Amino acid sequence: MEALKIIANPLSSFFFTCILLLFANAASAKTHYHDFVIQATPVKRLCKTHNTITVNGQFPGPTLEVNNGDTLVVNVVNRARYNVTIHWHGVRQMRTAWADGPEFITQCPIRPGKSYTYRFTIQGQEGTLWWHAHSSWLRATVYGALIIHPKEGENYPFPKPKRETPILLGEWWDKNPIDVVRQATGTGAAPNVSDAYTFNGQPGDLYKCSSQDTTVVHMDSGDTNLLRVINAGLNQQLFFTVANHKFTVVGADASYVKPFTTSVLMLGPGQTTDVLIKADQPAARYYMAARAYASAQGAPFDNTTTTAILEYKTASCSSNCVKSKPVFPSLPAYNDTTTATAFTTKFRSPRKVEVPTEIDENLFITVGLGLNNCSSGARSRNCQGPNGTRFTASMNNVSFVLPSNFSLLQAHHKGIPGVFSTDFPAVPPVKFDYTGNVSRSLWQPTRGTRLYNLKYGARVQVVLQGTSIFTAENHPIHLHGYDFYIIAEGFGNFNPKTDTAKFNLVDPPLRNTASVPVNGWAVIRFVADNPGVWLMHCHLDVHITWGLAMAFLVENGISELESLEAPPEDLPVC
Ligand code: C2O
Repeated sequence: MEALKIIANPLSSFFFTCILLLFANAASAKTHYHDFVIQATPVKRLCKTHNTITVNGQFPGPTLEVNNGDTLVVNVVNRARYNVTIHWHGVRQMRTAWADGPEFITQCPIRPGKSYTYRFTIQGQEGTLWWHAHSSWLRATVYGALIIHPKEGENYPFPKPKRETPILLGEWWDKNPIDVVRQATGTGAAPNVSDAYTFNGQPGDLYKCSSQDTTVVHMDSGDTNLLRVINAGLNQQLFFTVANHKFTVVGADASYVKPFTTSVLMLGPGQTTDVLIKADQPAARYYMAARAYASAQGAPFDNTTTTAILEYKTASCSSNCVKSKPVFPSLPAYNDTTTATAFTTKFRSPRKVEVPTEIDENLFITVGLGLNNCSSGARSRNCQGPNGTRFTASMNNVSFVLPSNFSLLQAHHKGIPGVFSTDFPAVPPVKFDYTGNVSRSLWQPTRGTRLYNLKYGARVQVVLQGTSIFTAENHPIHLHGYDFYIIAEGFGNFNPKTDTAKFNLVDPPLRNTASVPVNGWAVIRFVADNPGVWLMHCHLDVHITWGLAMAFLVENGISELESLEAPPEDLPVC
């Protein structure tokens, strides 16, 4: 009788269902344990074997597959001769900033011979993310996919594809990448460009000594495959296409998007794009190809093309088409900004979303390069940048300097003074024509470890404004610990009077990395609901090396659930 009454009361039956659902969820959420051993392993590419830093001897590293709501526990053991950290790119890390991974931001590096266990839970994210080293240029070879399926019993918002294939686009140097960046830091010049792009670690048919190992993706006629495309390259935006096929884009950066079709993708380093591809063409072999979108005029770049083969598996094909040469796609020109823009501006959230409309913190941040003049006492071999300078980069004229004794998060948590300041400027110190002909007197930034303080729950807008200092180019700006809405983008200088008319406050896409157009701007919004210290930087590693970064310090809220967790006991010390 009592039970009947409870069920009969709609409110209590609602709570009853909620409790049941809670239990159901808790029961299905899993914890995944992994060991990542960072170690040098011989890897042969482009005819040469290198002692490459890998995870567990694998290149690319292991693919992690979880369901939304699951917990990951990854014990990282450093058996390499370099300091290392691992970053879980795009994972929100709610209250677990200690597991985010950027070196000297949320942790000190894991020294050779030491280990650290990353523990975090995936909350409300579905799709494709990835993990990578976040220390010097180790991520050139230390990276892998992180695939997040819907919760058990839940479905994709699109018909379930027959297959799923992760596609990691990478960049390969025919040298030790750490030596490449060390040389650049020494000379002050731009680092060498890569020697190949790779497709799941393989350069493909267009490179020497490579065609034996070209990646092959199989499909059955009529079937649909979900390609999870990740730009894991260091320094280059990439176009990606498949001969004679179209893609339906269904997700990006582990958020679903309103589906749209396209024949070419453009991904900045850090970005992911999930696409459906249907085997609706004659059974044959087709090349998938990726090459540079190089937006900086006159700057050197790796102009090679990586390929993989999409191979139909049918009776009619097995004899004929394995022998036949794959069909080659046409790719956009390297400097095809029109195609890049047409692609990035197609993204929408699947439905109306809650974009903050009242803004508590309105920032305007310039992003771009710079040149440091060398003092008269400097050696010319350390001043090999343009006209005897050294390359640098900055946000709002501050070139970001990493601390070395403490991580920023430790310094904040323990109240250690002198590690950072919280005076990162909300607007550029000087207003100028950002995308015009910038006076040489504005080319040299200051250096500093300056953070921007955000109250818990603050509603934040950031205008990311590219500059044409030295050279304008597209910058993939990544924010740690958050997804943000990209509400508008455009070319030239952002105009607060007229460009607000372009704001999409209805269904803008949710991303963790925004492509700021060459000589242009992008506007992002987010709510500061995750306490910690969060790096925002250009995901071109050469630019982060030069200081194109800043960090937000997000304060704790009131309750425990609004506060940073206690640091793990094995957190590395500097
Ligand atoms: Cu994908 Cu700061 O990183």
